[in-house]
Amino acid sequence: MSVLEKAFHSPVGRKVAARAGLAEPPVLRRGRTYPGGALVLAQIGEATLGARTLDVLGRPYEAPVLDGGEDVTPGYGDRIGAVVIDATEVTRIDQLEHVRAVLRPAVRGLEGSGRVVILARPAGGDWEQRAVARALDGIDRTVAKELRRGATSNLVRVEEGATPADVASTLEFLLQGRSAFVDGQTWAVGHAPSVAGISERPLDGRIVVVTGAARGIGAAIARTLARDGAEIVAVDVPAAGESLAAVANEVGGTALQLDITAPDAGARIAGLVASRGARIHGVVHNAGITRDKMLANTDQSRWASVLQVNLAAQMRMNEVLLDPAVDGGVAEGGRIVGIASTSGLAGNKGQTNYAASKAGVAGLVEAMAPDLASRAITANAVAPGFIETDMTAKIPFVQREVFRRSNSLSQGGSPVDVAETIGYLLDPASQGVTGQVIRVCGQNLVGA
Ligand SMILES: NC(=O)c1ccc[n+]([C@@H]2O[C@H](COP(=O)([O-])OP(=O)(O)OC[C@H]3O[C@@H](n4cnc5c(N)ncnc54)[C@H](O)[C@@H]3O)[C@@H](O)[C@H]2O)c1
Repeated sequence: MSVLEKAFHSPVGRKVAARAGLAEPPVLRRGRTYPGGALVLAQIGEATLGARTLDVLGRPYEAPVLDGGEDVTPGYGDRIGAVVIDATEVTRIDQLEHVRAVLRPAVRGLEGSGRVVILARPAGGDWEQRAVARALDGIDRTVAKELRRGATSNLVRVEEGATPADVASTLEFLLQGRSAFVDGQTWAVGHAPSVAGISERPLDGRIVVVTGAARGIGAAIARTLARDGAEIVAVDVPAAGESLAAVANEVGGTALQLDITAPDAGARIAGLVASRGARIHGVVHNAGITRDKMLANTDQSRWASVLQVNLAAQMRMNEVLLDPAVDGGVAEGGRIVGIASTSGLAGNKGQTNYAASKAGVAGLVEAMAPDLASRAITANAVAPGFIETDMTAKIPFVQREVFRRSNSLSQGGSPVDVAETIGYLLDPASQGVTGQVIRVCGQNLVGA
């Protein structure tokens, strides 16, 4: 900790910070926990998907009658834990009034780390329907910015044909503390021909490969997935061998010392898994590096190393591990997860190489998803914002404090927040989620 940082965290420093509007950020609800207060379901029009999905999850709810224009909606408990708005039948501008009517009294009474979840359809249909689909997005992003005390708002686009079983894992994730740092986001869920039921240990007995597992986000991924039942193959460079072994031991997994840029990296992973007569359920491409410089100072080696580790290596490994003829490769119904970054999606000064590699990861999973659908393999990415790790500890203090507070939750995320989002994507119940890039950034103001 620098002298400046120590002063900032001293009692006097805290008082000065509070006066400058830098109040202590809220402590977020995390883990497989639901909100404590009542769950309110607003059904607009003839919508039933939300109710049927909550039934799949076994969550009781109160459903106020919405007849428009009322500011005090009947049926709310004293403490509101979450509001689920089923807007899947909302097609007209005047129906948006129901969204306002149910949210206005609810946002005021929402508990700390409470939830707003909007279920809607993808943009389609006539001009008005398409406009309304975007309007709901605008509501979600703005409500997320207005909510206080760690409460979040997110919007799920449910494709036609998707059933409550397809949507259940997504609604479960969003209501639970696992989505603590996912805020103001939108992604889509489609229909999968066969989808597993909801489970507390969805990865039981399944092999998941995690690269860059020796520390930071990768170590948190290994721990979180092991909690969910996964057998972890923890990969990292030989130089990180000691901490890699410690993480692997802690989670009862296997350590594999391997530089992912080696031409035979995919083959070595498959070989290890094949030696057990098994196949892989999930590959989490977490290993990544930064070599930051303004573009004017970025030489070829800084460019090449970042693109090799963060993008080219995972593409080469995917080619091997997704080959059905390779023993120990990814099984039918498997999962690929890449780690992008908000820097890649929004651009970030001094990180052209990193942004190229991370936006490339988003492009890669979007391209892979349709090609893998016939084998029920999904490909998705998570894009972390500011997460408290060794990587971000290198940023100078003042800049770091600005970054960590520049989001709707006024704090940096924890590695476990990224890990939980990956766990949701790896869940066999998330079969209908593919080709998505989900930000775990607390609604980072940078390109949110
Ligand atoms: N920390 C953040 O705020 C943040 C934000 C956005 C994205 N990310 C991404 O999340 C991932 C993890 O980040 P972190 O903060 O935990 O980083 P970290 O530097 O703490 O850990 C990265 C790990 O990857 C390993 N690694 C690097 N090159 C490798 C290689 N060639 N082969 C095998 N392993 C290799 C390192 O040894 C290290 O253990 C990275 O892809 C990073 O770009 C992090």
